[in-house]
Amino acid sequence: MKVLFEIFKETEKLVERSADFIQNQLGNVKNQQIETKSLNSLVSYVDKKAEEMLVEGCMKILPEAGFITEEETIEKSADKEWLWIIDPLDGTTNFLHSLPFFSISVALQHRGKTVMGLVCEVNRRELFYAIKNEGAFLNGKKISCSSTEKLTDSLLATGFPYYDFGRREAYLKLLGELMPKSRGIRRLGSAALDLAYTACGRFDAFFEYSLAPWDVAAGAFIVEEAGGIVTDFTGGDNYLYGKEIIATNRGINKEMSELLMSHFKA
Ligand code: IPD
Ligand code: CA
Ligand code: CA
Repeated sequence: MKVLFEIFKETEKLVERSADFIQNQLGNVKNQQIETKSLNSLVSYVDKKAEEMLVEGCMKILPEAGFITEEETIEKSADKEWLWIIDPLDGTTNFLHSLPFFSISVALQHRGKTVMGLVCEVNRRELFYAIKNEGAFLNGKKISCSSTEKLTDSLLATGFPYYDFGRREAYLKLLGELMPKSRGIRRLGSAALDLAYTACGRFDAFFEYSLAPWDVAAGAFIVEEAGGIVTDFTGGDNYLYGKEIIATNRGINKEMSELLMSHFKA
C-alpha cells in the first residue's frame, strides 16, 4: 500500500495535467456544445473530458478505490474502503462565460473520512491541498485560516441559490443582516475555491445551501486542516451530504453560526 504522501504527489501531477487541458479549452466551447443538465446547471465536453482524465489517473493511483463524481463518467461506488470524490470543473458557468475563477476539486476518503483534498485554481495555478494531520498548503507553503475575531472585520463568501429557491427568503434576510455587519459578501462562483480561500484567510467565512459532496469534500477538509471549523447549518457535521455548509475561522465561528441558525431554523 502506498503511503498517503505518494498518493498525493501522483494526484498533484494528475490535477496539473487536467488543469492544462481545461485552461487550453477556455474560450473554445461553442454554444451548441453546451448542454443544460437541469435549471442553470450547464456542462460541456470540457467537464466530461477533464473528469475522464481524472478518473483514469485516479484508477492507476489507487486501483481499489471507488468514485463519486459529478459528471458520472464512472459508476458511483461509495461502498469501497477508499473513495475519490471529484468535481472536474467547479465553476462551469464562470468557465463558459470566460470568467477566470474555476477549479478542480479532488478528495480522497478512507472508511468514510476525508484524508486528502486538492483544489486547483486553474488560471493562477494555485494548488490548495491538505493531507490528514499534516496541515494545509498553498503551492507548498503552509496556510491557515484568518485570525479575525469580529464579524465587522470579516470578508464573507457565499453562493446564491440558482436552482433550489426553497430557502430563498431566509437566505435573503440573512444577507440583509450580514451586509451592515461585515466588510462585505462575495459570490465568486466556485464553492471549492470559496472554501480554499477561507482556508488561507482571504475569506473569513463561507456558507451556501444545496451543494453536492463533490463541491465541498476537498475544500472543507482543507479548511479543517487549516484550523477552521466546518459544520452544517445546525452546527452538526452533516455538511458533505446534507446540502448545507458553513466554514469559518475560529474567531467568528460562534457569531456566524448563531446568525445562520437563527435564519435557517426549521
Ligand atoms: C457550482 C459552483 C458554484 C455553486 C454551485 C455549484 P459547478 O459548481 O461551485 O459556486 O454556487 O452550487 O454547483 O456546477 O460549477 O461544478
Ligand atoms: Ca461544483
Ligand atoms: Ca462541476
